[in-house]
Amino acid sequence: MASVSVDEAMRRAIALAARGLGATSPNPVVGCVLLDADGEVVGEGFHAYAGGPHAEIVALAQAGKRAHGGTAVVTLEPCDHTGRTGPCSHALIAAGVARVVVAVPDPNPVASGGAATLRAAGIQVEVGVRAEEAEAGNIAWLTSMRRGWPYLIWKYAATLDGRSAAADGTSMWITSEAARIDVHALRGTVDAVIAGVGTVLTDDPRLTARNLRDGTLAIRQPLRVVVDSSGRTPADSRVRDGAARTWVATAAEVGAGPDGRVDLAALLAELHHRGVRAALLEGGPTLAGAFLAAGLVDRIVGYVAPKLLGAGPTALLDAGVTTIADAIDLELTDVTQVGPDLRITALPRKREA
Ligand SMILES: NC(=O)c1ccc[n+]([C@@H]2O[C@H](COP(=O)([O-])OP(=O)(O)OC[C@H]3O[C@@H](n4cnc5c(N)ncnc54)[C@H](OP(=O)(O)O)[C@@H]3O)[C@@H](O)[C@H]2O)c1
Repeated sequence: MASVSVDEAMRRAIALAARGLGATSPNPVVGCVLLDADGEVVGEGFHAYAGGPHAEIVALAQAGKRAHGGTAVVTLEPCDHTGRTGPCSHALIAAGVARVVVAVPDPNPVASGGAATLRAAGIQVEVGVRAEEAEAGNIAWLTSMRRGWPYLIWKYAATLDGRSAAADGTSMWITSEAARIDVHALRGTVDAVIAGVGTVLTDDPRLTARNLRDGTLAIRQPLRVVVDSSGRTPADSRVRDGAARTWVATAAEVGAGPDGRVDLAALLAELHHRGVRAALLEGGPTLAGAFLAAGLVDRIVGYVAPKLLGAGPTALLDAGVTTIADAIDLELTDVTQVGPDLRITALPRKREA
């Protein structure tokens, strides 16, 4: 096989890491490519599930003796601690690699220190190769670890005139089947799906990740979270059907904000504590407004249907904005047509304190 550059190997490692998306929490996604002394690929791996072997260990196992004197190209700094598996830094030292190239340092104080351990063992370590790309591929985990609460994506569906339901309350099928399939794929990449009790009472959603064509459930289900200050979620609601874990988060359990409703920052802190690194906020407009007003939303994914309703509730209610100067500015990062609908992805610009 022809030799590849470290840069090409890192690009491949980033693509490998992405295969673990949605399955590794509370761990990060990680990819690793091992090159022998001549730059030939002799091993590849990614972290596939929490508790499973780390990317470096999979790649080392493939490479065997050919790792000796070679280069390990890894998307995240190799771990330096014994968790459910042993430290990757020690495994790389034992395999005799000469050089380790890392994209992003590990922000987790428990696992970091791998680069220092490798250097102390005489291994050449470089950090920062394709860092921006690797960071983007692991954004939820990295953000969550750095600040202590999950990366929150607000997803909504609306008509072109911004309505989230018809005037008579019917709302289930605003967007196409293609868009709804896309949403189920998105659910499969997060650890928790969050909805307000208003949505549960109106729509009685299942909030599971499933195959829309035959109804089969995805193997891994996000935790379903109902934000319900006083515990109004009916015992026979679908979120309590046992198809996935459900947490009805009440103000008594989580803590209350000044308005007596669930304290949303405390809710996210508790979710982080429970191992949630990425969460999908699925509405409705009251809860989404409250999360946005609190500055807790990291990404917005809006599915916009080519339909007009002219009346009915809007996709978003009070988000703490009363004057145009306070409008929440967004940076558009992607616009994709999904079936007949548009999927618009945007990042809220951080406001000046
Ligand atoms: N198109 C879409 O994407 C979409 C998605 C979801 C829902 N919807 C539609 O939205 C409608 C329901 O809207 P909704 O606004 O009533 O429902 P919601 O936003 O799902 O739920 C609102 C409720 O959440 C509870 N809550 C708890 N803590 C809160 C906090 N800190 N801040 C704000 N709310 C908090 C409040 O009830 P308590 O005070 O009793 O806890 C509040 O009334 C339905 O018609 C549904 O079809 C549309």
